[in-house]
Amino acid sequence: MKILVTGGAGFIGSHVCDRLVKDGHAVVCVDDLSLGREENVQQLRGSGKFLFVKADVTDAKAMRKIFETNSFDACFHLAANSDIMVNDLNIDYRKTFLTTHVLLDFLKSYRVKQLIFTSTSAIYGEKAGALREDDGPLRPISFYGAFKLASEAIIAAHVHQHGLQAWVFRFPNVVGRRLTHGVIYDFMRKLTLRPSELEVLGDGKQEKPYLHVSELVDAMLFAWKKANGDSNVFNLGADSSTTVKSIAAMVVQEMGLKPKVRYTGGDRGWKGDVPKFAYDLSRIHALGWKAKMGSNDAVRLAIKEQLGKA
Ligand SMILES: NC(=O)c1ccc[n+]([C@@H]2O[C@H](COP(=O)([O-])OP(=O)(O)OC[C@H]3O[C@@H](n4cnc5c(N)ncnc54)[C@H](O)[C@@H]3O)[C@@H](O)[C@H]2O)c1
Repeated sequence: MKILVTGGAGFIGSHVCDRLVKDGHAVVCVDDLSLGREENVQQLRGSGKFLFVKADVTDAKAMRKIFETNSFDACFHLAANSDIMVNDLNIDYRKTFLTTHVLLDFLKSYRVKQLIFTSTSAIYGEKAGALREDDGPLRPISFYGAFKLASEAIIAAHVHQHGLQAWVFRFPNVVGRRLTHGVIYDFMRKLTLRPSELEVLGDGKQEKPYLHVSELVDAMLFAWKKANGDSNVFNLGADSSTTVKSIAAMVVQEMGLKPKVRYTGGDRGWKGDVPKFAYDLSRIHALGWKAKMGSNDAVRLAIKEQLGKA
C-alpha cells in the first residue's frame, strides 16, 4: 500500500513509519518539524520506500502537491500539538484540530478511503472508573483533549458522509526510544542540566497507564487489519499503571544519581492535566490483542533506551 503519515518525524510517528516500511509499504511522511526531528526517520532514507516532506499539514498548497503526485491507499494522522502542558487554545486549535480538518478535506477530494487517527485519554476529561469507548457525554478539561474529541467528531461525520473507513486509537501515555516530550523526557532533561536536584510537578501521586511504543504500534497495525467496521474506536494500553513518584525513582536510579527531589505540590502537574485514569480494555482484548509488558516494565525499558542502555 502507499501510505501517508502525518507527524511521521515525531516520537510515535517515526516508529509507525519504521514498521510500515518494514512491512513492505511505501510511505510518504509529512512533518513540519515543529516538534519532531528529521533524524528520527534518517534510517529510512535509503530504503527506496520512504519519502520525507517538510510541510505543515494545514498548508493547502503544499498538501495539494503531495496528493497530486501520490495516490494513497491510507493515511496515519499523528500531527498534533503533543506539548500538552502548553494548553494554549490557538496552538491546540491549529495543530490538533485544523490539521485533522484540512487532512479530511484532502482525503475526501482524492478518494483516500482509510484513516488511522491517534486520539488520547484526554478526551474523557476527569472521569472516575475504567474509561470505556462508548462513555459519554465527554467533558475534556484541556484544549488538547477538546480538539482531539472535536477531531473524532468530524471523522465520524466524514465516515457517514463520504464512505471513509476510520480507526481511532485512544492512546494512554506512550514511552520508548526517541521521546520528544513527557515525564521521562522532562526528568532526564532536568537531571542532565542539574544532577543535584529534581523538580517533580504535582505531589507525585499522579498515576496513569504507560505503554511501550513498540506494543502501541503492534496494537494499531493489528486492529487496522482485524477490525473492519466503518468506524473502529479502541482504547489502547496495559492493565497496570505507574505513579509519577516511581518514574522519578526509576530515572534517578538508572542515571545513578542521588538528587534532592522537590515536589511542586497539588494533585496534578498543570491545569488541564488529568491526574489519574484507567482504561477498560475489553474491546481491544476481545479483538485478540493484549499488552505483554506491564506499565512499570514499559517505563523502565524506555528509560534504559533513552540512556542507550537497552
Ligand atoms: N506520546 C503520548 O503519550 C501520546 C498520548 C496520547 C496521544 N498521542 C498522540 O499521538 C500523536 C503523536 O504524538 P507524539 O508523542 O509522537 O508527539 P510528537 O510531537 O513527537 O509528534 C507529533 C509530530 O507532529 C508534527 N506536527 C505538529 N504540527 C504539525 C503540522 N501542522 N504539520 C505537520 N506536522 C506537524 C510535529 O513536528 C511532530 O513531529 C499525536 O497526535 C499525539 O496527540 C500521544
